[in-house]
Amino acid sequence: MEKQNIDWGNLGFGYIETSKSYVSDFRNGEWDEGRLTSDHTVTISECAGVLQYAQTVFEGLKAYTTEDGRTVAFRPDLNAERLYNSACRLEIPPFPKDRFIEAVREVVKANESYVPPYGSGATLYIRPYIFGSSSVIGVKPAEEYQFRILTTPVGPYFKGGAKPLTIKIADFDRAAPRGTGHIKAGLNYAMSLHAIVQAHNEGFAENLYPDSATRTKVEETGGANVIFIKGNKFVTVSSPSILPSITRRSLEYVAEHYLGMEVEEREIPLTELPEFEECGLCGTAAVISPVGKIVDHGREICFPSGMDEMGPTTKKLYDTLTGIQMGRIEAPEGWIFEI
Ligand code: PLP
Ligand code: COI
Repeated sequence: MEKQNIDWGNLGFGYIETSKSYVSDFRNGEWDEGRLTSDHTVTISECAGVLQYAQTVFEGLKAYTTEDGRTVAFRPDLNAERLYNSACRLEIPPFPKDRFIEAVREVVKANESYVPPYGSGATLYIRPYIFGSSSVIGVKPAEEYQFRILTTPVGPYFKGGAKPLTIKIADFDRAAPRGTGHIKAGLNYAMSLHAIVQAHNEGFAENLYPDSATRTKVEETGGANVIFIKGNKFVTVSSPSILPSITRRSLEYVAEHYLGMEVEEREIPLTELPEFEECGLCGTAAVISPVGKIVDHGREICFPSGMDEMGPTTKKLYDTLTGIQMGRIEAPEGWIFEI
């Protein structure tokens, strides 16, 4: 496959139009058969549900070129399932999971020349989403929807690649108890924009949100789950208001079954932060981005792994996960989806 003439090694996390997007419309109570389109714009009513009441949910996954030249995606069945759950929570008609997976295959195949070559450090980011497209003015669900998948080649989410980040304990709340923190709804990101701009202005890479009810426990950042290392333990957050990260769940398996670590998924009080040796942010976009320092309103928590490079255990987790994704290390059954 002839690849596009793109400077893959210098890509950031931005949008570049590719060849095709996938689209399916929901009208008269059902999803149509779907199709590829070269039209990367959307025309909808000025009164569409998505514009007035933010009725939209999305997903994020990636396609990779493996060491032996295949194009693969990572666990798209879990994205299909999460989008399904997100849609139900916002009264959006869910897109059938088997059709989601086939749509991912179709759209990646159509954009294969944009899947970055093996070893380039870049990947093809896949963004499926659904939005209310028909007009609503009273507060209620739309009657018509569009499911789309756009793709775009991306590099590292955080500038500086694998350099440890400094993050802050957020001044704002992300997700209410019994709210929408556990689903991937655009509204969760809209309300994080003010907090992220403020954090960036103060020199921080991200916000680490505490739980909204008590502000005493770790939740997650604006766009990734958090992971911690303590001796031979891989510790992650258990909370009903964080997004169930596919990367985090995969890393829990990798830590236990590939690295022989003990895995703990539990509540993490903020007071425990100084006890951890390493910390990282994990997600499709973030992969694993190491955290060197957390600042809690002037109090600095500096992890022993330091500010120069990824800690040794985080590095092993990173190498194993990306090795599995790029075909260098044998994957657990069902994790690698051949395009
Ligand atoms: N948490 C939030 C708020 C996110 O936006 C993401 C990104 O998808 C994640 C966690 C990581 O989830 P995943 O590993 O499934 O990409
Ligand atoms: C992803 O990791 O796929 C996300 O959606 C996170 C977003 C902040 C880019």
